[in-house]
Amino acid sequence: MDLSNAKIVLGVTGSIAAYKAVYLGRELLKIGVELRVAMTEKGTKFVTPLTFRSALSAPVVVDQFESPTAYNMNHIGWARWADLILVAPATANIIAKATSGIADDFLSTLILAAGCPVVFIPAMNSTMYLNSLTQKNIKILESNGCYVMTPEYGELASKESGHGRFPEIQSIIDFVGDIIVKKKSLKEKNSS
Ligand SMILES: Cc1cc2nc3c(=O)[nH]c(=O)nc-3n(C[C@H](O)[C@H](O)[C@H](O)COP(=O)(O)O)c2cc1C
Repeated sequence: MDLSNAKIVLGVTGSIAAYKAVYLGRELLKIGVELRVAMTEKGTKFVTPLTFRSALSAPVVVDQFESPTAYNMNHIGWARWADLILVAPATANIIAKATSGIADDFLSTLILAAGCPVVFIPAMNSTMYLNSLTQKNIKILESNGCYVMTPEYGELASKESGHGRFPEIQSIIDFVGDIIVKKKSLKEKNSS
């Protein structure tokens, strides 16, 4: 699968797995992805924007009302730029917000404005993940054309085992790669 030159916005939310997004971002850069990072305010409680700026040399936006560094550094500019939005880790909260079309911060507004595939990588405590509301929200997102990866079963931050563990980075890259390949072949088919 070829992700080189793909333009991806990495969305980082307030999960204990947020630090793993730094490693995910580094692996995406190694395979030639162009990256930008959109963090929720709660995401910044776990990892700072500075970590992403320094480790990935990528633009990072948290607050959509910050003075932009360029004219198109707003949610519409980013939505037009992106080939794919990858929310990893995705909290139960961002999943619920995206399900309802809530757009009350930069990342949720970007998700609503996106014309490209939006991929969610849930990471949470297993009771939150298996809660029927979260499960219903995931189904709604999928029926709306979004992609939601099934998290792994394994040891969680609480030290219990359960569903909701952030998947291995390579599995996420494979999942995203398949989506980009499918989109590309659909585009080629439609234009031929
Ligand atoms: C220590 C800690 C760890 C958390 N880990 C998770 C998590 O892994 N997944 C999740 O859905 N919520 C988790 N939460 C709760 C979210 O941070 C909370 O729902 C927050 O409002 C999410 O905001 P956001 O979606 O805007 O980032 C955690 C909260 C704390 C204090």
